[in-house]
Amino acid sequence: MKKISLHTAIEVYTYEELTDQQKTLIQKAKETSLSAYSPYSKFSVGAAILLENGEIVCGSNQENAAYPSGICAERTAMFYANSTYPTVAPICIAIVAFTDGKFKQTAISPCGACRQVLIESEIRFNKPITMLLYGEPEIFFINSIKDLLPLNFAPSSLLSS
Ligand code: THU
Repeated sequence: MKKISLHTAIEVYTYEELTDQQKTLIQKAKETSLSAYSPYSKFSVGAAILLENGEIVCGSNQENAAYPSGICAERTAMFYANSTYPTVAPICIAIVAFTDGKFKQTAISPCGACRQVLIESEIRFNKPITMLLYGEPEIFFINSIKDLLPLNFAPSSLLSS
C-alpha cells in the first residue's frame, strides 16, 4: 500500500494587508455582486478576474426559474474572460458574496462545477490562477485552483494512457 497526502496552503489576510491591485479586484467583485440576478436564492455573488494584460473582467450569478439553468458568478466571469480575451491568461479571481443586505463576512469558496471550469483555464494557459475569497476581517488567498481541486479531471485525462 502506498499513501498520497495532499496539502493545501491558505494564506489569510486582512483587507489592509492586500496590495492595491488586490484591493481593486475585491472592490470590482463587490460592485459586480450587486448586478447578480438572484431572485430565488437571494444570494448574490460577484467575481472579478484579473488578466495577464491588466484587464479586469467581472461576472455575477444569473439564476433562472428553471433552477439548474442558472450559472454562478465565477463561471459567468471566466467564460466572459475566455470569450473576450481567448489568448490572455487569467491570473487572479476575487470572489465576494452579498446576502441579507450585506457582504458576507465568512469567505465563500467556488462550487465544484466552477472549480472544474477554473482549472480548465489554469491548464489551458499553463499559469496558476490565484484566488482571493473575500471575508471580513479574513480574506483567504489561495495560490492555485489545483489546491482546491486535487486529483482533478483534466484535458490529459481524456488521453488513452
Ligand atoms: N453561487 C455563486 O455564484 N458562486 C459560488 O461560489 C457559490 C454559489 C450562486 C449560485 C446560486 O445562484 C446562488 O449563489 C446560491 O447558491
